[in-house]
Amino acid sequence: MKISVIGVGYLGAVHAAGMAELGHDVVGLDVDARRVRQLEAGRAPFHEPGFDETLRRGLDLGRLRFTTEYEDIAGADVHFLGLGTPQRADGFGADLASLHAAVDALAAVLPARDGSPTLVVGKSTVPAGTARGLAERLERIEGVRLLWNPEFLREGFAVGDTLEPDRVVYGVRDPEAADAEIRMLDTVYAPILDGGTPRLVMGYEAAELVKVSANAFLATKISFINAISELCEATGADVTDVSRALGMDDRIGSRFLRAGVGFGGGCLPKDIRAFIASAEDLGVGQSLGFLREVDAINQRRRVRVVELAREMLGPLRGRRITVLGAAFKPDSDDVRDSPALEVASRLMAAGAHVTVTDPEALKNARGHVEGLVTVEDTAEALRGAELVLLLTEWRRYRDLDPSVAAELVAAPRIIDGRAVLDPRTWRAAGWELRALGRPDAPAPAGTQAGTAGQPAAHEPPAAHEPPAAHEPPAAHEPPAAHGRAAAASTAGPDPAAPLLSRG
Ligand code: UGA
Repeated sequence: MKISVIGVGYLGAVHAAGMAELGHDVVGLDVDARRVRQLEAGRAPFHEPGFDETLRRGLDLGRLRFTTEYEDIAGADVHFLGLGTPQRADGFGADLASLHAAVDALAAVLPARDGSPTLVVGKSTVPAGTARGLAERLERIEGVRLLWNPEFLREGFAVGDTLEPDRVVYGVRDPEAADAEIRMLDTVYAPILDGGTPRLVMGYEAAELVKVSANAFLATKISFINAISELCEATGADVTDVSRALGMDDRIGSRFLRAGVGFGGGCLPKDIRAFIASAEDLGVGQSLGFLREVDAINQRRRVRVVELAREMLGPLRGRRITVLGAAFKPDSDDVRDSPALEVASRLMAAGAHVTVTDPEALKNARGHVEGLVTVEDTAEALRGAELVLLLTEWRRYRDLDPSVAAELVAAPRIIDGRAVLDPRTWRAAGWELRALGRPDAPAPAGTQAGTAGQPAAHEPPAAHEPPAAHEPPAAHEPPAAHGRAAAASTAGPDPAAPLLSRG
């Protein structure tokens, strides 16, 4: 089928390459000529395991092209809308300007068709009611039908999530009278649906709500465990013990229950805010009032890390602090609303000399924080530090050898902002370790409390455990190179510093 993808940011670029992988003839369009040239040359504009190969395969097979011109996509059978909907500069709501501009530009070139319809398929995350408004505009053109098909891909797993999603959702104007457009999108996704992926058809508003509700639920789950983490700090309990035991209840599940410095990125934070704004616009603001608290808990965790730094160092002015991680999560170079970078900025504002290291995200980080000092090599970054903060749980940082790292720093002090280090091993290697939601010091041996913070000798620490057999890997596990099963290599130990890594 002839397909266009309008907007080739993260979502759109991966979707375009994914559709070419399914065998379609795809043109990706973007107003950003630089990005288009980059993609045409087979260069991925972001770090995403497995994407480069998929992109190049599509280009080499002649199934994938990129353009800035709407005329080049006018004849496609299906047009996907993959435009970003960031938070508005003047409030919580979603900024739909690029989406509306793209729909206007598309409408201007769409030919009237009889016979099989021209399908426009929205994938962007939008407030409920957006699709119906766009349909009224687009469906004035003979033969054009709009379908809303939200995207659930995660960064770091984007290719696998596109080709093997958990479910596909079709939002239509009237589920009883949408056979032609449903059949057409089924043809596009045939290899996915044939593989057994469930497909759900519903009204536009339900489809729009599924997406924002999913992200709101995930954010709520993370903030829930982070609220419990605050309770753990007040009582001396270990949040990884609580989380592990909670997650074993199938009704709760262990995923998105990892406590730490909280959620960031280009989706969860802005989506919960847009959801709050949308509920208020609809006159039901009270319904989502709890999401303000979800947001507040999340922000508090960032502030808490800075407080911990003060507790360990005293006044921060002039102190040398190294931050491990800049991306909002591992296996990504995305620094949008990154907790790690916000903490780094707060420490800098307090007068600390901060050095940030990350395997992939330093270029983006420098563009985000003025004057940020970055060092690529982990050992180099650790050298001379008076305090180390682990804020993005890249495998190379989880696997750091505490004895080797202790030789490099000026003073062996570390804050584990993702609760991924084994406190016992690190303390045994001479480190003063503080962790969000975990006891500050080992409880005296032989007491009952001694089991709270310390994993039993025969148990590995919770965060290092493989996910339950029936679940795909958690976000911090090595990403699937293609599909959810195969492991990629990017998350491995720091090749430049093999001595730093245990095992
Ligand atoms: C999120 C959703 O997971 C996707 O389903 C959705 O399609 C996407 O937003 C989107 O709307 O486009 P993503 O932003 O890639 O995906 O990242 P997540 O894996 O959801 O992680 C978000 C943040 O939560 C990260 O900062 C991560 O470190 C944090 N997190 C995640 C935790 O703090 N604890 C956890 O247990 C899990």
